[in-house]
Amino acid sequence: MFKRSVHTAIQAGVIALMGMSASAFAAGAAKPANTCSGTYPSYWQDIAPKFAEMWKGQIISNAPTGAYSGPVFKLSDDYPRQPVDDKANQPWRSAKFDPLFDPATPQDVKAKLAKEYGWLVYNYILAGNINQPGQSDFDVCENPVRPWYHIAFQTYDPLSGREFIHGLTREAPVTFSIKSGTGTAATTMWAVAVYNATAAYTLGTVWQKDGTAKVPTSNIRFQEGAVIGKPLFNTATLDQLPVLANMPRWNANISDPTFCNAPQGATMAEQSAACPRNYAAWNDVRLLQFDISIADSRAKGTGWVYGTFVADGQRKAKVKDEWQRVSLLGMMWGNDTPPPGQLAYNYPPNPRKNGFKEEVIFWDVVDELNSYGGTGMVQRMGHLGSNHRLNGPADNANSSCMSCHGTASVPDSTFTTPPLLAKFAPASMNMTYQSVAPVNGLKAVGLDRSGSPATVKNDVSFSEMDAIYFANVMAGTSFNMTTPSGKNVMGEGVPSYPNPAQKQWISLDYSLQLSMSLTQWMQWKAAEAAQTPPEKRQFVKALRRTQ
Ligand code: HEC
Repeated sequence: MFKRSVHTAIQAGVIALMGMSASAFAAGAAKPANTCSGTYPSYWQDIAPKFAEMWKGQIISNAPTGAYSGPVFKLSDDYPRQPVDDKANQPWRSAKFDPLFDPATPQDVKAKLAKEYGWLVYNYILAGNINQPGQSDFDVCENPVRPWYHIAFQTYDPLSGREFIHGLTREAPVTFSIKSGTGTAATTMWAVAVYNATAAYTLGTVWQKDGTAKVPTSNIRFQEGAVIGKPLFNTATLDQLPVLANMPRWNANISDPTFCNAPQGATMAEQSAACPRNYAAWNDVRLLQFDISIADSRAKGTGWVYGTFVADGQRKAKVKDEWQRVSLLGMMWGNDTPPPGQLAYNYPPNPRKNGFKEEVIFWDVVDELNSYGGTGMVQRMGHLGSNHRLNGPADNANSSCMSCHGTASVPDSTFTTPPLLAKFAPASMNMTYQSVAPVNGLKAVGLDRSGSPATVKNDVSFSEMDAIYFANVMAGTSFNMTTPSGKNVMGEGVPSYPNPAQKQWISLDYSLQLSMSLTQWMQWKAAEAAQTPPEKRQFVKALRRTQ
């Protein structure tokens, strides 16, 4: 697949990266410069002395000891300080793909274009990041094809902070409906995202060369051609999820796969004690899902394309490269927003038959995933999102890739951000749930897609809440939390930014990693100012699937 000679690749890289001051490629050099600079901590409890204050008082379980001789993760954080356009190497930007975004294009043509587009991006992300001699896969420090980067500061939080072998962050617990045993499997997802140089330039406008963050005070926007890839790994055994057979597997320094629960309000020291990590105690993690996102202005309503590949380890067992044993589950570039007064749970009608306007789902892949599932329909791997909008096996059934990511905003002075789902809002906000199907024709009582009872709260109707969460938010535009009649569903005075004139959410342009890493940064700065590890802090929960 990647037979391109290193020489040609470097030439292309140099052309593409012209104008980059901190170019990862010295012109003519045989070896790419190393993009892992040690400016930011590479993992939670990073042993570099300059970060020691961050882990003060904690039980250390996430640092390589003398007995360990395997790979140690390094953060690729030498972000380009000038904009980079890699168009010459991004064939999906060709006019050939324009019809994908045209609502008039027939479904079968859209499906064909979506598949080709998705695979072009997937292979662009893999190039030079896998099968490199002497390197672990996705050790991106010295990619010989083009540079890739990680986000800084997903390391401060003891529960989710990167583990030290592959830089995986701990995501939400996921309970799958399965055929064997008791019918359910309690598992955890672990993931690491990589950014191309175009995307990393924007990260670098926030994460500075001196190791500090500049918290954005106005909307940010990634540039055309920004690409982010995110492999997600799962802790299930092959008995539980046979589709994971033959997939890439990593030994990682994880904690109990059934998830550890430190009580809300636990200190960081208590959390580090409640959730110890260990690379020898648990099974390897295996590739289940591979998310991609691409800044593409042809996506008229949002400026972004989201897609996900899933493990297809049974049907593709014979494919030579294990990273190719995935199938595209779908692509989306908008939420197919319900018209005013209509509901997300049944709009558009029968998408399996009629298709969506702004997404493509590959139903044969859905069926393959679900064939390993037990009786719990929305806990099967192919459950998808609200009304089968695109969502991965690890994601919440009441949401969709873009419904959740559209919320990405700069945390306000109380570290508040718009809830990823209405359901995750603090009880004090009294928010109506999204994706609710009314029961028996009642207007104010229903069930959401996970079967949770829901009622209308604060006079915000189900359709008004759906209009908020399934709106198409334009890239770099504030997320709106207000109903058409002017009610702020999070309560008056939210957000509360340091600048009182800033009444709208400051957009982080769909990047929830930026939002989460900035929250951790702000917590660290607050702890430093107080000169004590934070007591009774509200810790970050990477909530994605929790029902
Ligand atoms: C219910 C919320 C939710 C849903 C649904 C969701 N994500 Fe995410 N996603 C997150 C959160 C939270 C993060 C940041 C945490 C992390 O990556 O460690 C994230 C991170 C990412 C990233 C890394 C870059 C970034 O934006 O921060 C990508 C790429 C991504 N998701 C793609 C997808 C795709 C594709 C889908 C659908 C198949 C999807 N996501 C569905 C919550 C969600």
